[in-house]
Amino acid sequence: MWPVYHTREAMDSSRPTEFPRTMTANQSPTPAGPPPFLTLAPLQGVTEVLFRNIFARHFPGFDAAMAPFVKPQGQARFPDKLLRDILPELNGGLPLIPQLLHNDAANFLAVADRIADLGYHEINWNLGCPAPMIVRKQRGSGLLPHPELVLALLDAVVPRLRLGLSIKTRLGLHDKGELPALLPRLDAYPLTEIIIHARLGSQLYEGRPDLDGFAACLPLTRHRLAYNGDIVDVAGFVALQQRFPQIDRWMIGRGALADPFLPAALKGMARPGQAERTRRIRIFHDELYAAYRERLAGPSHLLGRMKQLWAYLIASFPGREKLLKKITKAMSEDQYRQVVEQLWEGRESARG
Ligand SMILES: Cc1cc2nc3c(=O)[nH]c(=O)nc-3n(C[C@H](O)[C@H](O)[C@H](O)COP(=O)(O)O)c2cc1C
Repeated sequence: MWPVYHTREAMDSSRPTEFPRTMTANQSPTPAGPPPFLTLAPLQGVTEVLFRNIFARHFPGFDAAMAPFVKPQGQARFPDKLLRDILPELNGGLPLIPQLLHNDAANFLAVADRIADLGYHEINWNLGCPAPMIVRKQRGSGLLPHPELVLALLDAVVPRLRLGLSIKTRLGLHDKGELPALLPRLDAYPLTEIIIHARLGSQLYEGRPDLDGFAACLPLTRHRLAYNGDIVDVAGFVALQQRFPQIDRWMIGRGALADPFLPAALKGMARPGQAERTRRIRIFHDELYAAYRERLAGPSHLLGRMKQLWAYLIASFPGREKLLKKITKAMSEDQYRQVVEQLWEGRESARG
């Protein structure tokens, strides 16, 4: 079980939610058909530009990445540095789809125009974020009970948009009837894709994805659908492929942070043994750590970032999960390095 934080606020202030995870090595995805198209999910506070670039250099398998939503939402005019995460010159790795969380057409268009000026061809609209503060402002999954607001934004934005538009959403905020009610009405718009995280917003990250709920969406749209939610191992993925043969695009977040070799395994690539996995994760980790160290202001930011990653990555070290607590407690770079060293060396704990 790993702790999962849905926002930095949640990480700081409340209990983590739990995410079930089982490691299954040596299973192959079904060989039939073309390889699945895999997109790295956006995780605000984790999968920003440095992470995306370094991850893609070390771990093959993803075909594209979606950037966490651009902040802030309110202003049409804000300094270019706020678009830093998606600047093409910094994003040398996977093809990138920027994401907006706006609920206001004028601001949406203003930011989308700047993204188009950067050379992008597609953006994503986030209709799934479940964070209470966002939901309260009728953004993210907070828009799902209000289909008229969703359609009003699309009516205002789509005719003037210079980019392709996809939507990332959930089955609803409180009720899994919400997305099925909206989907047929989205047929009127030229969307490139709808990615469905098969949970309700009110669930945050708890419980299992609702596969029946996802299945119910399939006949309700002419748009291409992609599946997202709890893809954590090859066996589970194969089961999803078998249940949804019409789906060939998949988005994976926490499963790939927990097991960076998962995307490649889903493409049928051989999975290295534990020693080799540890060696390669270490090289990745050290590069990421050095890049954050140079980029972030001070050790607390650096350690905060690394701790958030370890909440997932610790699953790559079966039997050593209790070291996560020590990582989380590390107050200095020295303490942090000492704990992480134990993982590389395969030791449990030198002094208990
Ligand atoms: C810490 C965290 C931050 C997230 N940030 C975003 C975000 O910026 N935009 C978004 O569309 N989804 C965001 N998500 C949701 C993920 O993209 C994804 O939909 C969700 O984690 C389910 O997929 P998974 O089980 O493969 O991780 C976030 C999830 C987490 C845990």
